[in-house]
Amino acid sequence: MSHNIKGIIFDLDGVLVDTARYHFQAWRQLAESLGFSFTEEENERLKGVSRRASLEILLSMGKLTLSEDEKESAMASKNKNYVEMIGKMTPEGILPGALDLLKELKQSGIKTALGSASKNAPLILERTGLARYLDAVVDGNRTSRAKPDPEVFLLGAGDLKLEPGECLVFEDAAAGIEAAQNAGMKTAGIGRKNQLNRADILFPNLQGVTWSVLSKKLSDLPR
Ligand code: G6P
Ligand code: MG
Repeated sequence: MSHNIKGIIFDLDGVLVDTARYHFQAWRQLAESLGFSFTEEENERLKGVSRRASLEILLSMGKLTLSEDEKESAMASKNKNYVEMIGKMTPEGILPGALDLLKELKQSGIKTALGSASKNAPLILERTGLARYLDAVVDGNRTSRAKPDPEVFLLGAGDLKLEPGECLVFEDAAAGIEAAQNAGMKTAGIGRKNQLNRADILFPNLQGVTWSVLSKKLSDLPR
């Protein structure tokens, strides 16, 4: 048995770095300032989703309507809090197992790309030193359509000069797994089965995830 995966595209927040909790904290602060509460459970729906789409979901949860100007200032205030948190990040913010896997992939000749909806990805890559392990970076500054649209991952495959079918995507968000599947890629979920039941492969986190573990699991998937 074999597989044809030649490149891996990584989501950033919640896969390579421990920033999903910062996004949650910043959205919760915004919700509270608007007069409603926001739980970790509800936050699952915002994971992987662009800033604007996240705000729209949050407002619908709070049953609130804002004018365009108010939306702009709500997004600015959420982002200001978030940037304050990530501005203090160090390489310690890299999630366990991520660096080992990226290093091993580089040595094994497997291409790697970032596929993130975040406009703050450049700051995070710089603060954590992750940039040098990625052959390509696609982030929210280059995309116009939010996950589950496949745009971000198709751009990543293009940068790596690979066909979608030659790429595996690591994602912690349901919208991201869907985006990768819409792109025609194989998917590895990072998280829990009840949230990511559509992923081809599932890991609780990247600890112990090696190229040989992945190759074995990929070979076992139906083609
Ligand atoms: C990632 C995160 C989302 C976030 C989005 C936009 O996909 O999972 O929670 O809303 O990026 O991030 P940004 O940093 O541009 O607000
Ligand atoms: Mg994510």
